[in-house]
Amino acid sequence: MMATLPFTFDEYHGRQSRFLEQIPTDSLVLIPTNPVSFRSNDTSFPYRANSYMLYLCGWSDPEAVLMAHYNVDSWVTTLFVQPRDTKAEIWTGCRVGTEGAASEWPVHEACSIIDLKDIVGTHLSACKQAYLIQGVNSTLDELVSSAVDTDSADPTSILDEMRVRKSEREIQLMLKSADIASAAHVAAIRKGCAGIGEWQIQSVIEAHFTASKSCCSYSSIVGGGDNATILHYNSNDNEISDGELVLVDAGCEVSGYASDITRTWPVNGKFSDQQREIYELVLKAQLAAIEVCQAGSVWLSMHRATSSVLAQGMIDLGILDCSLEEAIGDDMEFNGPYRNFFMHGTGHFLGLDVHDVGGGRQGDKDEGRILQPGMVVTVEPGLYFGSWRTDVEIPDRYAGIGVRIEDNVLITEEGPMVLTSSCPKTIDDIEALVGSKG
Ligand code: GLY
Ligand code: MN
Ligand code: MN
Repeated sequence: MMATLPFTFDEYHGRQSRFLEQIPTDSLVLIPTNPVSFRSNDTSFPYRANSYMLYLCGWSDPEAVLMAHYNVDSWVTTLFVQPRDTKAEIWTGCRVGTEGAASEWPVHEACSIIDLKDIVGTHLSACKQAYLIQGVNSTLDELVSSAVDTDSADPTSILDEMRVRKSEREIQLMLKSADIASAAHVAAIRKGCAGIGEWQIQSVIEAHFTASKSCCSYSSIVGGGDNATILHYNSNDNEISDGELVLVDAGCEVSGYASDITRTWPVNGKFSDQQREIYELVLKAQLAAIEVCQAGSVWLSMHRATSSVLAQGMIDLGILDCSLEEAIGDDMEFNGPYRNFFMHGTGHFLGLDVHDVGGGRQGDKDEGRILQPGMVVTVEPGLYFGSWRTDVEIPDRYAGIGVRIEDNVLITEEGPMVLTSSCPKTIDDIEALVGSKG
């Protein structure tokens, strides 16, 4: 019944060594996993382990802490886990237990989580600082804050620097995640027809995830018509009328690794002239941003690329009546009027977290890091003309149109590699796919 780990012991040990060699040897390292969250009364949400825990040792069950302490001349890793307990296992399933964890996981030893306070307390009194991820496990937070002679330090910046560049095996898993999500979007587009419910499209996507032994990496967004203009819409409970576009932002997780795809398509299979104008502009901006996903580019390059294409396109379509410079605004702030219709960043890092570590959102107010091979980013420009908006004048011609196109891109020495390329996005391909038999 033991789970198979997604990486070899060598890969986990390599990560642990690279991490621990950056930590002073008079420290204690504590990496807690996420608590169970409750949905209502005593029923919980599906459990998702903490990404740092998954990264360092692949442990995916709740109530666990990975500890590392330095002993004589090397680091020793200890995994605290739930002990075997037949009465509890009758309800929630067999546990790996301490013996299983010590023999089948990439750690030196395992202890019962029941002994966490005592064992960590003893180690804390013998070390100068505790490298603890705070805010995840309140017992550890209290233990560390009450240890008088021990400072606390944050290990996440070291780990984030490691997580931001993916290994070959991580890229394989991300490709699998991208393939499953691409196929799910294709299946959903095939179901397109006037009058379909947003929830019905959601069910096609999520059925494909489940059938592929995967799960959502975030709540699926399925917004028809004006709902496509609400960035975090996810009630998904409206019918989509003939002539409306639907925006579907949905991705899945494989061994913890996320995909994150958005496609926008006409529910009746035919873009109107107005929809086509906006769609073509967003696609042009997206392709321009993918083009600059190059090793050596600054993080902000993608946002710069999308911003100038979108702003110029809106001037050409008569949506904005000003110069390109005025439309974009300050060249670091991006605060010109084009932002009335493109309100979010151009992308983010992608990995074990859908909004992964290593950088902010594209559009943050600095140039950010230099892109390197092995990094995976999303590229997701959009334009939104919600007819419900009262803060800004919405051009009649485009009222009710929302378009976003999002792909997942691996930076390589040879240039950008679009992991989600099997999900169609040209107007011709999408029109041919809507409502077609699979
Ligand atoms: N689906 C979340 C995002 O695109 O960032
Ligand atoms: Mn998305
Ligand atoms: Mn995204």
